Amino acid sequence: MSRWSHRHVLDLAAFSLADFTTVLELAQRFRSLPTSGARRLPALQGRLVTSLFFEPSTRTRSSFELAARRLSADVQSFSPASSSLSKGESLLDTARTYVAMGADVLVVRHACAGVPAAMARALDRSGERVAVLNGGDGLHSHPSQGLLDLLTLARWFEPTAPTPAALAGKRIVIVGDVLHSRVARSNLWALTACGADVVLCGPATLLPDGFAAFVQAPPPGQAHDPVECRGTIRIVRQLEEALPGADAVMTLRLQQERMHQHLLTSLDTYHRHYGISHQRLELCGKPVPVLHPGPVNRGVELSGALLDDPSCCLVEEQVRNGIPIRMALLYLLAAAEPDPFTAA
Ligand code: NCD
Repeated sequence: MSRWSHRHVLDLAAFSLADFTTVLELAQRFRSLPTSGARRLPALQGRLVTSLFFEPSTRTRSSFELAARRLSADVQSFSPASSSLSKGESLLDTARTYVAMGADVLVVRHACAGVPAAMARALDRSGERVAVLNGGDGLHSHPSQGLLDLLTLARWFEPTAPTPAALAGKRIVIVGDVLHSRVARSNLWALTACGADVVLCGPATLLPDGFAAFVQAPPPGQAHDPVECRGTIRIVRQLEEALPGADAVMTLRLQQERMHQHLLTSLDTYHRHYGISHQRLELCGKPVPVLHPGPVNRGVELSGALLDDPSCCLVEEQVRNGIPIRMALLYLLAAAEPDPFTAA
């Protein structure tokens, strides 16, 4: 395993190719552990993982908590509705309260971009050793989702050696509401780092032209891009043009709760132009996998029949891969042992 230098995981823009390789390798090893019988490794025994989710979540939160338990960590979770936030306590004071109880890792989700990074900075300044893991912040970033998508694609292309190299030169089409998607932003950093060529497809209201230059400048807050040579990003407005030659299709949820203007004519019209179905997939010219981070609007981003077809729809596979990816992240941030399997 190569050297890991991150104190926190906030944004995949900060990841080098070696970082992606480290996470994928470790996740693949965790994934191949037996799924029945003694499923726990002692790697995080005595550590406390606290999930601070200020925004709803089905998959991410439970998957982080399960991952922490599989590594024998103690797990504590916080619900905003029943907390002192409702009595006016600030976010940072809430975080400090959990750090005072001994949290080693805070997994933080918030509707505002930058909250996990601001917490990490403030806790670093006061000398705390706690690691912050971004569980999704506003429209900005969702690192663990980007990584589990990467593992899912790498395993599709190279089932026995799912490394970042499996993505090099692949054409990945990302369809839909890119504008409101932190998942798409994390995927853009991850996929281009691995040398994939990304085609973004959607209407101009949900996919502004500026996304073509998304990874061109050094990542925000960094002097240099940690990746020497990235794949490309191209914008195409019609699926009929985007799909021929595609190696995989990633769909995104229409984030209507984040749309403050009238950006869509109707869900039916969206499905007609950008919905993915078996018939649409024939345009790719070969069998390709379809991903979606969930929750899915059935019959909108994906047809019901496609969603129920595990031979090409990898939504459940993504959920499965989320656990070893999150085990890898928690292990890298919080374990004392250099190898998780030595004490197994
Ligand atoms: C995503 C999220 O919350 O960012 N879902 C997830 O974490 N699996 C995507 C979404 O809500 O559309």
